[in-house]
Amino acid sequence: MSARILNGNEIRDQIKSEVSAELKQLQESGIRPGLAVILVGNNPASEIYTRNKVKSCESLGIYSERLILPETTKTEELLIRVEELNRREEIDGILVQLPLPSQVDSKRVLLAVDPQKDVDGFHPVNLGNLLSQRPGLVPCTPAGILEILKRSGIPIEGQRAVVIGRSDIVGKPVALLLMHHNATVTICHSRTRDLPAVCREGDILVAALGKAGMVTAQYVKPGATVIDVGISQLTQLADVERFFSGNAKRMEEFEKKGATLIGDVDPASVMPVAGAITPVPGGVGPLTIAMLMVNTVRAARLRRAAYPAPVPS
Ligand code: GUN
Repeated sequence: MSARILNGNEIRDQIKSEVSAELKQLQESGIRPGLAVILVGNNPASEIYTRNKVKSCESLGIYSERLILPETTKTEELLIRVEELNRREEIDGILVQLPLPSQVDSKRVLLAVDPQKDVDGFHPVNLGNLLSQRPGLVPCTPAGILEILKRSGIPIEGQRAVVIGRSDIVGKPVALLLMHHNATVTICHSRTRDLPAVCREGDILVAALGKAGMVTAQYVKPGATVIDVGISQLTQLADVERFFSGNAKRMEEFEKKGATLIGDVDPASVMPVAGAITPVPGGVGPLTIAMLMVNTVRAARLRRAAYPAPVPS
């Protein structure tokens, strides 16, 4: 037996076509949502992520701009930029790409974003709204995970869900969303005793710990749905061989590019045990950007009382 692959690219395309229809409607009312993405410094991954976010806006006809600031940018300078964007009428969404350089007080910056324009859903007001199930903007990756589960027909209500990782960006919000959909949720972290045994209780296992290929078959209940949120680059031949020795396509990719991607899950180990699994790449990643588009349109509606946004389920 081998797990069913949950194709994030297909689900992203579905969601983007729904967003496209909504954008047409808004356009008829003279509304064009706008997103501003702030990138500070030269983190190569952030460079790619922010470029892809802007590209996705362009493909849908959402107005977008990317503000690139030097690595040496200070908190105060960044706060001024955020305030400017808060005031601009044509900007509905503001995204400050993380991580920020170490001299920047990230929490202060995220707090400065107008909660109505906080398309990342990282502002404490939006996290509070999520906690108390009020309308607001929900963090993109957790929202994307719920879309994968729902659109793939994976039951959530009454299921045991185990989340590995307790970050503010993924672990905590996805646990809340799963709980709001009536799963029984356990959050695990680096100090959890007998982590594999706890994980094996999960009908749904969300791996968001940020350790390449750490989740193996011994973490997975037979038939469970495994959601892999991690993304790491393997650049050493020994590592690539460890995870992908039987995978000609991956070995070839590594030979050509000198790197290949892996999530937090060891796919060769987990595939025979899991019932369904999100691949890396092509699983959760595409949904994060799709949900950013959803949030940008939602933010545009939220700011205009005449075009109320539906309450997210
Ligand atoms: N860095 C990694 N993921 C994210 C995300 O979803 N939003 C932002 N702003 N930064 C990130």
